[in-house]
Amino acid sequence: MTAIDKLIENTIRADVRAIASYHVPDASGYIKLDAMENPYELPDTLRAELGQRLADAALNRYPVPSYTTLKRRICAGLGVPSGYDVLLGNGSDELIAIMATAIARQDRKAVVMAPTPAFVMFARSAQFAGADFVGVPLNSNDFSLDLPAMLGAIARHQPALLFLAYPNNPTGNLFDEQAMEAIIKAMGETGIVVVDEAYQPFAKKSFMDRLPAFPNLVVMRTLSKLGLAGIRLGYLSGDPKLLEQFEKVRPPYNVNVLTQVAAEFALDHLDVLDGQAELLNQERTRLAAELAALPGVEVFPSAANFISLRVPDADKTCAELSTGKVLIKNLSKMDKMLANCIRVTVSTPEENTAFLNALKASL
Ligand SMILES: Cc1ncc(COP(=O)(O)O)c(C=O)c1O
Repeated sequence: MTAIDKLIENTIRADVRAIASYHVPDASGYIKLDAMENPYELPDTLRAELGQRLADAALNRYPVPSYTTLKRRICAGLGVPSGYDVLLGNGSDELIAIMATAIARQDRKAVVMAPTPAFVMFARSAQFAGADFVGVPLNSNDFSLDLPAMLGAIARHQPALLFLAYPNNPTGNLFDEQAMEAIIKAMGETGIVVVDEAYQPFAKKSFMDRLPAFPNLVVMRTLSKLGLAGIRLGYLSGDPKLLEQFEKVRPPYNVNVLTQVAAEFALDHLDVLDGQAELLNQERTRLAAELAALPGVEVFPSAANFISLRVPDADKTCAELSTGKVLIKNLSKMDKMLANCIRVTVSTPEENTAFLNALKASL
């Protein structure tokens, strides 16, 4: 064993040594349909205006950590109930990590729970924060919540934090609202429920207006899927007293000044981004219909900007698409109920057609 290997064994956590880092494939030269990004750019006039505003940003100064103006704009423009504030994160990834870090139980390791298959960062952040992650399988026929199983698991494990992605990634469906409310009520004073609305710009459904009814509810969103994945901005809202606790864990300057300026600019032009989301929703309808017509393909309903589907041989399909320079996500190894499933981001009509043609050739 070399000196550096010994150093790593002596200093790095065993569970960290045992895992691989989050893999992001090199997409250069590919039609990139693996990460639910918005394929559209801003119109030229807006790009010029953004350039000017970024040039005026005070790069020599730390951001003002209260982020008052940006927070006010988010609250006013994105449907946060009156009297509620937001907590900002470097993407919602950071907000997930902040919440997982803040939770604890008096007598044992805290549990983070989510119905699975789920967004991978729920389990990862729980692990890094020293909590146990408990996944409760969705119903495998339609990826709906298994409410009795969820309520049983809540009673058994008493999770301090429970994530419900609405719509869910990687399945794309919206969970039943009554089932979600039953979970929020069952968690009551013993656990926080985070409704993760990363895909809300496409689903147009939200739990935001229910915040006043449930003190243990947190609603989290991101600007990533709307068209600003590169600036990394997530926000969440919840009871002010709860936010005050999470705020203590947030690194003070976690949102940089360029992100702040770009986000305020985006809020000035939400109509443009909403228009792009509407185009993508129209394309989702077309793509889903064309996929459903293919022999041997099972398409799952989606309210998000991606579609998950089952093909006869996902490994073969992904390999052949990759050869044809189309990058999608193979879900097969993520969960046994996703055997032979793939996930594709809804993109421009041209890119969707390129994907469809490559898929047809691979079947
Ligand atoms: C359900 C869900 N939540 C959160 C995120 C992370 O978003 P962000 O880019 O804000 O970190 C994703 C990203 O794919 C997601 O699918």
